[in-house]
Amino acid sequence: MTDVQVIKMVDTTNGEIDRNIFVDPEIYRRELETVFTRAWLFVGHESQISNKGDFFTSRMGEESVILCRDKNEKVHVFLNSCRHRGMKVCRYEQGNTSLFTCPYHSWSYTTEGKLQGVPQFKNLYDGCLERDDWSLIEVAKLKVYKGTVWATWDAEAPEFEAYLGDALIHLDQVLDCRDGRPGGSEVIGVHKWIIPANWKFAAENFLGDTYHNPSHRSVDLIGIGPSSKSGSVGRRNDAELEQAQHIWSSFPQGHGLHSAIAPADNEYVGSYTSEPEIEEYFRSAHEQRKERLGEQARLLPFTGTVFPNTSYHGRQPRGLCVWHPHSPTETEAWRFFLVDADAPESVKDYLRHYYMRYSGPAGMTEQDDMENWLYATRASTGTIARRYPFNYVQSKNKFEKNGPYGGDVSFQITEQNARNYYDRWATYLEKSSWQVLMGEDQGDTQ
Ligand code: FES
Ligand code: FE
Repeated sequence: MTDVQVIKMVDTTNGEIDRNIFVDPEIYRRELETVFTRAWLFVGHESQISNKGDFFTSRMGEESVILCRDKNEKVHVFLNSCRHRGMKVCRYEQGNTSLFTCPYHSWSYTTEGKLQGVPQFKNLYDGCLERDDWSLIEVAKLKVYKGTVWATWDAEAPEFEAYLGDALIHLDQVLDCRDGRPGGSEVIGVHKWIIPANWKFAAENFLGDTYHNPSHRSVDLIGIGPSSKSGSVGRRNDAELEQAQHIWSSFPQGHGLHSAIAPADNEYVGSYTSEPEIEEYFRSAHEQRKERLGEQARLLPFTGTVFPNTSYHGRQPRGLCVWHPHSPTETEAWRFFLVDADAPESVKDYLRHYYMRYSGPAGMTEQDDMENWLYATRASTGTIARRYPFNYVQSKNKFEKNGPYGGDVSFQITEQNARNYYDRWATYLEKSSWQVLMGEDQGDTQ
């Protein structure tokens, strides 16, 4: 498929989206060039690189990058590719080093990205190689936000806060301590696995596809939630959500999320009743958060996707999930699990066990989702299948502008978030200006 006008494939007016956008190699190539080289992408968490010289090998789109803390404690994100012949200068997932030494011809780079060691420099390079010109490639902009590290290759990109817009209020509730103190989370583990599905299926699911709940029926019947030992059913601590007002919000930058607003009294609802110590920790955190944030404490984050490929789960299992593209039909999923850094070890341990039985390739819940995404991808590759669009008409025109906590809001299950997301996605592929991409100007593309 060449020279396609992607904008025509995403018909949000009629709620129809061409399924080629989930399988076509040419569209995939354009995504890499126009979305992943420009948008702000989540790279990792400061707690993974606490000390000088610590590094964590991450990804931005298909490309390997190194997140590291240099000897002056500054955080960097470098392209993991040697300036000589491109070999990966770091082949470990994480660790600590003072130099990244390329395995091929042994050029070495400092943790600030500077080219330092060049074997036989005097004989072979003196007078013809200026080391300062051959540092590791570094991202154009980097932001450390409440411990999370984000980066973009585009020097023209808006600042991170502007890129997030009002979605930031919701993301805050994921990153802040359970008692409402700003930030303070740490990563207690990263799950990585590969799924034979297009990356957008996963990103879309987290925009607030509450409609897919029936696919988790079996795990809901078994009950794996935090209180599972007491025989409760379900897969999460949902009792609090049951009495809340649910909202589905979408934002001009492409983000979309599903949050909830607790009743005015915002009473604590027991979720860990089989474990008194854990229950007490969360009860106390809830009361302190109410005290600290007042009315704002009524906002309960659930799930969301920061455009394009960083999703979150704000309840348990609390964390960020990144959907790294591998090909049109393959995605590498990374799930970063978050806890309050100063929580007691018993709480961290309890949550770690819960996260593992819920998430990832062996988790009881996420298996259901992956099965849907991979079969939907496979069933969309056929010649006949590709002639027929997907249906996105759900709750069309049933949303309000300027909802509570920002964005356009729907008070019922909706595909408005997905319509908005794909509309923004298509605008990136048309190489629109940042002004258009941020929803500040709905005019012509460049
Ligand atoms: Fe790295 Fe040659 S490719 S030193
Ligand atoms: Fe699901």
